[in-house]
Amino acid sequence: MTKRVEIFEVGPRDGLQNEAVHIATQDKIALVDCLSDAGFSRIECASFVSPKWVPQMADSAEVLSGIRRAKGVRYAALTPNMKGLERALAAKADEVAIFGSASEGFSQANINASIADSLERFAPVAAAARDAGVPVRGYVSCVVECPYDGAVEPAQVARVARALLDMGCYEISLGDTIGRAHPDSVDRMLGAVGAVIPAEKLAGHFHDTSGRALDNIEVALQHGVRVFDAAVGGLGGCPYAPGAAGNVATEAVHRRLEQMGYETGLNIAVLERAAARAQAMRSSSE
Ligand code: HMG
Ligand code: MG
Repeated sequence: MTKRVEIFEVGPRDGLQNEAVHIATQDKIALVDCLSDAGFSRIECASFVSPKWVPQMADSAEVLSGIRRAKGVRYAALTPNMKGLERALAAKADEVAIFGSASEGFSQANINASIADSLERFAPVAAAARDAGVPVRGYVSCVVECPYDGAVEPAQVARVARALLDMGCYEISLGDTIGRAHPDSVDRMLGAVGAVIPAEKLAGHFHDTSGRALDNIEVALQHGVRVFDAAVGGLGGCPYAPGAAGNVATEAVHRRLEQMGYETGLNIAVLERAAARAQAMRSSSE
């Protein structure tokens, strides 16, 4: 089995979307430019959602047009609907993501739609992105627990994940949105999802609210998952998931993976520079 693991950097999107105070577009661009030298293949740095719902991401088009596009790096954006996709294509996002939930409560709070309605809304987005030659990733939130509905059934996660895959998503990222998962609940969830989707098409997306994200990543590795989302400096949270802390920090995931004998291809010195920059942006906005 390969010893290579990819970290998908989501800090400039998942990290910054939750910052309450406005962060200057130039600072966001500088963070992405720094991350572009760290060795990532994919960096999520934009979100074409409603600016009324997430004001911090309102300048996503400016971010995508201001960054230096490093060779071999795909710059990704969230697209909840056709309007989001049109904006993302106009801004030349290299890939886009649709994002659903395994729980009804979070689906309603986050995207103002039931799970069934959201899947109906995503299908034409995925088809149009494919027609435009842009890869589509799928997120499933609340794969273990929901801030509104409590525990989530693994079979329900498998159902939503499979629906997104069938729509044409090239990879499904499984989100522990509020960071409350335990290794045993992750194990059960991945048992169910792994029965309907091969591990090569899965990614783990762990928030670190309870400090268990690295242990949960280890469980996912045992299930064959080889892609993990993380945010430099542990930035993040979700404005519609009360209590969600930051994503697991990219530097911490890199270190744990190296200790376990995996390679990430990332340059830790650059990562530390980016983490310092991310933290400075955060404290200057406090
Ligand atoms: P809605 O209010 O139901 O949308 O929101 P609507 O279609 O009724 O439109 C209402 C208004 O929004 C209209 O404007 C639209 O034009 C506008 P008005 O006529 O009132 O002036 N609008 C848009 N504007 C810009 N871009 C768009 C767009 N769409 C509509 N794409 C909607 C539905 C999905 C838009 C809204 O609920 C929304 O934007 N939600 C996003 C919430 C969000 O970004 N959450 C964080 C990201 S998810 C996450 O962090 C989890 C993840 O990390 C994984 C994990 O951790 O689990 C991915
Ligand atoms: Mg997240």
